[in-house]
Amino acid sequence: MSSISKELKKQGKKIGLVPTMGYLHQGHLSLVEIAKKNVDIVVVSIFVNPTQFGPNEDFQKYPRDFDRDCELLKPYNVDYIFYPSIDDIYPKNFSTYVEETEISQVLEGKYRPTHFKGVTTIVNILFNIVKPDIAVFGQKDAQQLAIISKMVKDLMMNIEIIPAPIVRENDGLAMSSRNVYLSAEERNDALVLFKSLSYAKDLIVKGERNCDVIRNKGMEILTSVSTSNPDYFEIVEAESFKFIDRLENGKKYYLLAACRIGSTRLIDNFLINL
Ligand code: PAJ
Repeated sequence: MSSISKELKKQGKKIGLVPTMGYLHQGHLSLVEIAKKNVDIVVVSIFVNPTQFGPNEDFQKYPRDFDRDCELLKPYNVDYIFYPSIDDIYPKNFSTYVEETEISQVLEGKYRPTHFKGVTTIVNILFNIVKPDIAVFGQKDAQQLAIISKMVKDLMMNIEIIPAPIVRENDGLAMSSRNVYLSAEERNDALVLFKSLSYAKDLIVKGERNCDVIRNKGMEILTSVSTSNPDYFEIVEAESFKFIDRLENGKKYYLLAACRIGSTRLIDNFLINL
């Protein structure tokens, strides 16, 4: 992949990267469409990255189906599917990590303390191999998107990070590879994430500016079904991920929810443009 990219650059081609962990769905495929509109060559990487999973998380059972992923990508005519092995990426003596130290400390970072260090490290490695001019990341993982954007800026990486809107099922559930873990009852209960965010957004649209009020109402809805066990319902400033007490007009915020439904941990968010 590295030598292919070097050759493509020599030919003056613009390269776009869509990093994924596979088990693709319409959310991933929407990122591919965005990449195609922006560059000459599209590379999709598929790699379930062990360093971003905690010791008690689902690395082993994370869904994998490379043949299915290739079938789903066929109609999109991507130029390269980069599918490295764990040993390719992390040889035995691997010892260097990349870490963002502010945004990564809160929310997902608090509940998954080593997660973002694994993400920034693998994204750096993928960037170094593929040498993209642009890379597309979904707003589904809003904190990841903010951290990658900050890393690229801080480390002067000269790669444009393009955000992609969240793709949802018809009833509002955000698409996720982890949705396959849900039983029929849990699939129904999983709608509390979308419902809590929708309710909170409505409150804001109707004029509520007090974050405590919005947070409490969101948390109340998240806990309203039997299989749910919420980690947080929060409001932060969109770029910095700083917590605030009151919303101000003219600014952007994220409403963010994280919740276990049975044993499956799901996240979702709405971008609020006041
Ligand atoms: P993964 O969860 O496979 O997601 C790959 C990309 O697809 C991410 O940018 C994610 O935000 C985006 N995505 C997932 N579901 C989406 C949806 N419903 N709508 C829009 N975009 C969606 O995120 C990762 O993998 C990894 O952390 C990775 C960046 C590949 C590093 O290992």
